[in-house]
Amino acid sequence: MPKKNKTLGEFIIENQSSFQYSSGELSKLINAIRLAAKVVNHEVNKAGLVDILGAAGDTNIQGEDQQKLDVMANDKFIQTLKNREIVCGIASEEEDDFISINSSDDRNQNKYVVLIDPLDGSSNIDVNVSVGTIFSIYRRITPVGSPVEMKDFLQKGSEQVAAGYVVYGTSTMLVYSTGAGVNGFTLNPALGTFYLSHPNMEFPEDGKIYSVNEGNYVHFLQGVKDYIKYCQKEEGDRPYTSRYIGSLVSDFHRNMIKGGIYMYPKSSIAENGKLRLLYECNPMAYLAEQANGVATDGFRRILDIEPTELHQRVPFFCGSKNMVNKLHEFMAKNA
Ligand code: AHG
Ligand code: MN
Ligand code: MN
Repeated sequence: MPKKNKTLGEFIIENQSSFQYSSGELSKLINAIRLAAKVVNHEVNKAGLVDILGAAGDTNIQGEDQQKLDVMANDKFIQTLKNREIVCGIASEEEDDFISINSSDDRNQNKYVVLIDPLDGSSNIDVNVSVGTIFSIYRRITPVGSPVEMKDFLQKGSEQVAAGYVVYGTSTMLVYSTGAGVNGFTLNPALGTFYLSHPNMEFPEDGKIYSVNEGNYVHFLQGVKDYIKYCQKEEGDRPYTSRYIGSLVSDFHRNMIKGGIYMYPKSSIAENGKLRLLYECNPMAYLAEQANGVATDGFRRILDIEPTELHQRVPFFCGSKNMVNKLHEFMAKNA
């Protein structure tokens, strides 16, 4: 049981030996992410003061407008991971293709690949509402020392060795798991140090919050519509409360602490929903399961899905066990 008032640095060192393939490499990688998170935090915090709000003028591979902070966060994370020569490959929501990383002696001995959503919740940037960063880490499949290939990135979520997110909120937190539960660290901005503030985070088994973009209601499958009506019904501990920030990281973070379900269903206007399997759903599903929660596409466990492309989208339902299971009942009855 981790104790409080420990810094992230201390926590990483203490827990290094419990990693399955402990060689210190994963610890160094988490350290690099910690540094990148601080840099991005610094930029996000001064967003209103300098000219980094608004659209960058480009669209990403998925046809979405890139915000200046999307581009900045992407650059900072990639730069930090490259500079530290700590991974052999990176895939990002903001990049068309994966990036292969060579070390200075041209023989990259690193084992890990990282997949990132550098800035999650872009639509909230200009209005001073919480945004985040999501990361997912795998051991490469191809031999160490050779260039990375697509198959190193297209691994099932169950193969993740670590995943986490940073939430740039009223305070900045880094929340991650290396497969032994989920721990949350809060940044002390004066010292630039993350402290263990939320040891062993877990979703309550029941919850009273449902989070969904109800503007899309008419386009949802009947099973989802029925579940939403169930949430609104006055009976027992219902009606539930609706809370939707529009930034997955923040909605997930709140629901994990308070108990709730997050839903981004497929609809008649988005056949696989909106969220990306590799950069958003897999890491969040890994964290959810590590925190006693559930994550599915309405029918299948997210972590069991075999990815076929980098920017693949998937419907996403995630949160407190009993809530997600209740949703499944409605989905099974009326998909
Ligand atoms: P991103 O900013 O990385 O593109 O992700 C935004 C995602 C997710 O964070 C959020 O939950 C969802 O999009 C909101 O979508 P809607 O605006 O369609 O509700
Ligand atoms: Mn996102
Ligand atoms: Mn993003």
